[in-house]
Amino acid sequence: MNSTKYVSFYNSKGGVGKTLLNGVFAYYLKTIKGFKVAVVDCDHPQYTLYRRRTHEIKKEPPAEQEKIKFQTLQGTGILFSSGGERSYDVFKCPIEEVETLKSVLNKTSYDIVFFDVTGTLNLEGINKIIGMVNYFIIPTSTDIEEIDSSVRIYMTLKKAQKGKDDTIRILFNKAKKVSRVKNVSFQKELEKMNFRFLQNYCYEYEAIRDEYRSTLELKTTRDDKNASFHLIMEELLELLNL
Ligand SMILES: Nc1ncnc2c1ncn2[C@@H]1O[C@H](COP(=O)(O)OP(=O)(O)OP(=O)(O)O)[C@@H](O)[C@H]1O
Ligand SMILES: [Mg+2]
Repeated sequence: MNSTKYVSFYNSKGGVGKTLLNGVFAYYLKTIKGFKVAVVDCDHPQYTLYRRRTHEIKKEPPAEQEKIKFQTLQGTGILFSSGGERSYDVFKCPIEEVETLKSVLNKTSYDIVFFDVTGTLNLEGINKIIGMVNYFIIPTSTDIEEIDSSVRIYMTLKKAQKGKDDTIRILFNKAKKVSRVKNVSFQKELEKMNFRFLQNYCYEYEAIRDEYRSTLELKTTRDDKNASFHLIMEELLELLNL
């Protein structure tokens, strides 16, 4: 039986940290926890993770380039780069090819597959992703408009899962430590209305831009700067039952 967990940090809102979080947790779960992990990059038209990987491949020694370079999956419009032992695998997949990808993934033995999806999907596209992904983490800031849109996407996902939301969570990202009290009170109000949250916040880190962009090598040692990644990873594993 294929027991792969399909996960997406997803929101219809742009710039909330979808790509960053999908990439960081894919990398951490592979390199710290030893899971077999892939990221499906459906982020048309940017395909950020795919593009980053292609840039990084060029900087590698030739023998390594051979191992990680992108190759077309025969007969499809899907591209694949293996991360080998050092990082997660990447699939570049246009949304129209998601069904094909699903049958490809059914024959693999990944423990976890992350989907990085553009926020501006039409309904048909959203339904394709919902048909594929089991766990949705909705990153949001505490900005009231952003929360409003995150709550709406939560309800859309919940409805699509026939009213079940045990695999949906909201995550405060780019949280400011100084406004922790405000965040907690927002969260409490929303929890009273039955919205579910990850209990750890991902704080705003200046260093993220420089230190968390690579698809091949990220900082993993736990320190003050990235403590929330480690806490969220543990919470995520609990949610995924892994
Ligand atoms: N916790 C954080 N602390 C600091 N910067 C962050 C944090 N999370 C994300 N960012 C930064 O915010 C910006 C937007 O993040 P990202 O590109 O991951 O968002 P996105 O939701 O994928 O956006 P898009 O909708 O354009 O695909 C990036 O520059 C990223 O490095
Ligand atoms: Mg993105």
